[in-house]
Amino acid sequence: MTAWSDAALAHLIRALPKAELHVHIEGTLEPELTFALARKHGVRLPYKSVHALRRAYDFDDLQSFLDLYYAGADVLREESDFYALTRAYLQRARVDGVVHAEIFFDPQTHTARGVAFADVISGIHRALAEAERAWGLTHRLILCFLRHLSEEDAQRTLDQALPYRHLIAGVGLDSSEVGHPPSKFVTVFERARAAGFGAVAHAGEEGPPAYIREALDLLQVSRIDHGVRCEEDAELVARLARERVPLTVCPLSNTRLKVFARMEDHNIGRLLAQGLCVTINSDDPAYFGGYIADNYLAVQRALNLSPVSLARIAKNSFEAAWLADADKRRWIAGVDACLLRLT
Ligand code: ADE
Ligand code: ZN
Repeated sequence: MTAWSDAALAHLIRALPKAELHVHIEGTLEPELTFALARKHGVRLPYKSVHALRRAYDFDDLQSFLDLYYAGADVLREESDFYALTRAYLQRARVDGVVHAEIFFDPQTHTARGVAFADVISGIHRALAEAERAWGLTHRLILCFLRHLSEEDAQRTLDQALPYRHLIAGVGLDSSEVGHPPSKFVTVFERARAAGFGAVAHAGEEGPPAYIREALDLLQVSRIDHGVRCEEDAELVARLARERVPLTVCPLSNTRLKVFARMEDHNIGRLLAQGLCVTINSDDPAYFGGYIADNYLAVQRALNLSPVSLARIAKNSFEAAWLADADKRRWIAGVDACLLRLT
């Protein structure tokens, strides 16, 4: 086989059908939209320009990012703001070859500021439904509980979500990880699962492998978001491989938040080689310098992943998605067909 040029690899990455399984809708808020919404609502931003805001996206760790991320969300106030935000993300995802997106939203960030849960979910859902009608891009919506808040707060949020049960596929757990283990949320996850919600949780991003075990055993999640610190526990790695527990890995997020110093140090290639169901996702693309294709490309360049490995990761994304088996099989066949066509 001839060597692949950078351009050919970039083309392959965009052409491969992909599911995105780890993206926070609030993390897709581009500075241009932040400024437009600030103008609309008469909000004064502590930055002079779009450029100045982007320059502030220089993080030391997860918390330094979250501080800016929660402040940025303040411009999201009306149903139409959530619609515009979601529509912009979906347009970018489509260009990157995303055919199915499972999207997180953080209702507590908005309801705490007096924004109605109904407006948040209506705006997001309106854009999702439109993308499905127009482009066939399918979706699931995942409500994340903020783990730095109490379980009682999460319970109240679940109560608010129940009338919209038909629009929400599952619950997740995000925000400041260390000091807020999954065990803090056992009761609310139990109630959510009993109500028919799927379950996922961020674990092993900055937190220890024990948090991954808790997410699996106590919250009974079907995927782990991030999970990269599993590598510190060989028995856990063996279990994740044996049980094909998907990890939704976000490489640009990991380097921007200094989980790994350089992309060359990222462990996704090693985890893939050990038989884990790893996927590539964008997390908070407006803050971390790239959408899903940029994440695939950055990993490919740093770790020299082969086209077959890239296709394996795309197939993993459908294996891990909350899709019917027939749809998974159809998309996985689509990945193989794409690889064959471009090889
Ligand atoms: N919320 C948005 N992005 C996050 C991340 N990478 N980790 C935890 N919570 C988040
Ligand atoms: Zn995340």
